Amino acid sequence: MLTKEQNERLTSVGPGTPGGELMRRYWLPIAPFAELLENPVKKVRILGEDLTLYKDKSGNLGLIGDRCLHRNVDMKFGIPDECGLRCPYHGWLYNETGNCVERPMEGAPQAEIKQKLKGYPVRELGGLVFAYMGPLPAPDLPRWDLLVWPNAIRQIGINIIDCNWLQCQENTGDPTHSAWAHGHMFEYVLEKKGQLEDRSSDNMHTLHQRKRVGVGIKEIYANQTEHGFRKGIRYSKALGADSDKDQEHSTVIFPFYTQTGKTGATRSEYQIRVPIDDTHTYHICYQAYSAPPGVEAPKQDVVPYYIPPTHDEKGEPILDYVLAQDAIVWVAQGPIADRTTELLGRTDIPIVVLRRQLDEQIKRVEQGLEPMNLFWKSPDMIHPTGSPPDYSKPETLIKHGFRRYYHKGFANDDADRYGPLIETVKDLHRKIEEYDIKRAGQAATEHA
Ligand code: FES
Ligand SMILES: [Fe+2]
Repeated sequence: MLTKEQNERLTSVGPGTPGGELMRRYWLPIAPFAELLENPVKKVRILGEDLTLYKDKSGNLGLIGDRCLHRNVDMKFGIPDECGLRCPYHGWLYNETGNCVERPMEGAPQAEIKQKLKGYPVRELGGLVFAYMGPLPAPDLPRWDLLVWPNAIRQIGINIIDCNWLQCQENTGDPTHSAWAHGHMFEYVLEKKGQLEDRSSDNMHTLHQRKRVGVGIKEIYANQTEHGFRKGIRYSKALGADSDKDQEHSTVIFPFYTQTGKTGATRSEYQIRVPIDDTHTYHICYQAYSAPPGVEAPKQDVVPYYIPPTHDEKGEPILDYVLAQDAIVWVAQGPIADRTTELLGRTDIPIVVLRRQLDEQIKRVEQGLEPMNLFWKSPDMIHPTGSPPDYSKPETLIKHGFRRYYHKGFANDDADRYGPLIETVKDLHRKIEEYDIKRAGQAATEHA
């Protein structure tokens, strides 16, 4: 439980707020690059600021204030120029720093203009456009591994979620919600649709796997790491689990990423929760499908994007896949969850760790110190899970997680089913399975 003031401190993102000042130290993913290929000008709202993102005719990216200095026309209607964006009304031209560099027909020296629009640095990496809205100089854009992992194909799912970003991120720190939101609720939803038999006959099905998450829990753990924290569940056979074991849940990457699936696995994902403002979140599912050495992933020129629907044509929530199940419970906590009236239990230990880490990093910025996960010389690849995958053991990459079987129906349980790449992904998974069977056969022969 938090006080009202503590809750505001962690959830507010506008300029000048403690949480907003922290967020402004990070590169924020704000759009798929592919979207700018369809339409080079896009209105965006990030950390409570209304802005215009554009790609000009030379290919430069810019992120500038949303209102023309002349007479306030919305720059979302702007016209990309060779270098910069022109207002559609009288053609004033702005460059990526937000400076007005040309006023056709005014006949006055440009130097007369003292005002400028906001102008924030923008970069592209791994098919995502990132912006930096903090004090200059900007740190390096971190090369998190899924963004640059070789021999992989990618797609990007985008959703606008109608609640504060921290609710989405707290879900990341919450390993036990799986048992209900993705287990029992999933079962209930399929039962109501009359699809339970069809969709879950295999014991490997998502809902069965997730229901098992809740059985035999001895304790929950959460440990801070260099880049965020790791957490999971300790199971006990005596309490009903199939064995005594530790099961790690997704990795939390500060401030707003989580990684599911191991890097290099046949399916892994960053879920990224960028605050639009205090009550809306730009949610990105950055999905990577990697092939092990020995299998070649198809070539990809552009990383495509899609919008996984969360409601049907009647406006009813679609609840038969994992992301939509998460989204419904995030929004159901209210626009900004009231943390003054919670009743936390032992399963919420990672939530407490997540809030503590966020508060500590806000404090560092308040003290003039650098928060975690700033890189002034980013390595070629940063592994948030701590260690790079072991190429000498391809089986550990292939075997990881039930999502290696998208070609066997498991894609139906994830947002990925709506993605433009899904058939290519299924083909890739099929190829990997064939390779795996062949490899296992060879190993058996060698052993004999
Ligand atoms: S309003 Fe933009 S140039 Fe006139
Ligand atoms: Fe979830």
